[in-house]
Amino acid sequence: MVSSRLKYLSLWVLVFQTTFLVLTMRYSRTLQGDGPRYLASSAVVVAELMKIITCVLLIFKEHSYNVRALNSILRQEITHKPKETLKLAIPSGIYTLQNNLLYVALSNLDAATYQVTYQLKILTTALFSVSMLGRRLGVYQWLSLLILMAGVALVQWPSESLGAPEKEQMSEGSQFVGVVAVLVACCSSGFAGVYFEKILKETKQSVWIRNIQLGMFGLVFGLMGMFAYDGERVRESGMFKGYNTITWTVVALQALGGLVIAAVIKYADNILKGFATSLSIILSTLISYFWLEDFEPTRYTHSSQVISISYSNVPWL
Ligand code: C5P
Repeated sequence: MVSSRLKYLSLWVLVFQTTFLVLTMRYSRTLQGDGPRYLASSAVVVAELMKIITCVLLIFKEHSYNVRALNSILRQEITHKPKETLKLAIPSGIYTLQNNLLYVALSNLDAATYQVTYQLKILTTALFSVSMLGRRLGVYQWLSLLILMAGVALVQWPSESLGAPEKEQMSEGSQFVGVVAVLVACCSSGFAGVYFEKILKETKQSVWIRNIQLGMFGLVFGLMGMFAYDGERVRESGMFKGYNTITWTVVALQALGGLVIAAVIKYADNILKGFATSLSIILSTLISYFWLEDFEPTRYTHSSQVISISYSNVPWL
């Protein structure tokens, strides 16, 4: 009963968190204009740090704010179980690779083709759930997944007039690289999500401990990425250049997103997560269509925004 409530609660929080994140992101891009942009790679690092700190605080609360108990649980579960901790290097490494692949995809494809193709992850997730978790899906369930995938793809289908100019700029070779990158990202998204689900459901450790372990590796990989891509800029003006209130809101929402995804994977599953994020794509499209016409991004701002969204770990892409 309690876990069924948690299941639907986590799914609804994911729907609203993702919708709110997308809208804040659009709003921030329209407001920010040509001012200095924050580094996407730094946002990834800050979001990972926020996730770790929040999980530590949650465990602290679970242990009645006892510092000793917190210290001992962290040591017992993380430092003293290196094998268990290392298990999380796999999904964390794959997510890092995935975020970079999506970046490659977006540099070679127009944003709409990218988003439509990336919906294939709904199917790869189902396939991994069947093969790795032994889940059984009936004909109607497969059908509803296919309809979901087609529906979300249609919502994001480019209109001829909008899609054409960008497509002309992409050579065939680069389109091919882009499509391959998205297809590999679909597989990695399905695999990493289901692998994390397997770890959460088949071992005893709490979801917050697992998230700290995932975040620790994410932080290391994120720092490596930040210094590799933006090392010079970070040394010149620091990693917080271009941060403003909206940036902090976006980063906090991203961190919250990671936590909500973990809760959804624990109390529901990856397939339902696909339905929730799809619902939020439709919700944010409707909200921006009816209420945010002023903030409707142009094609150009839209694709550059999607590049930085995806690179900053946003789940719905
Ligand atoms: O596209 P997909 O649904 O695979 O994206 C999942 C995203 O959620 C990844 O960017 C990953 O970094 C993030 N995530 C997280 N914490 C988790 C699980 C996933 O931040 N516990």
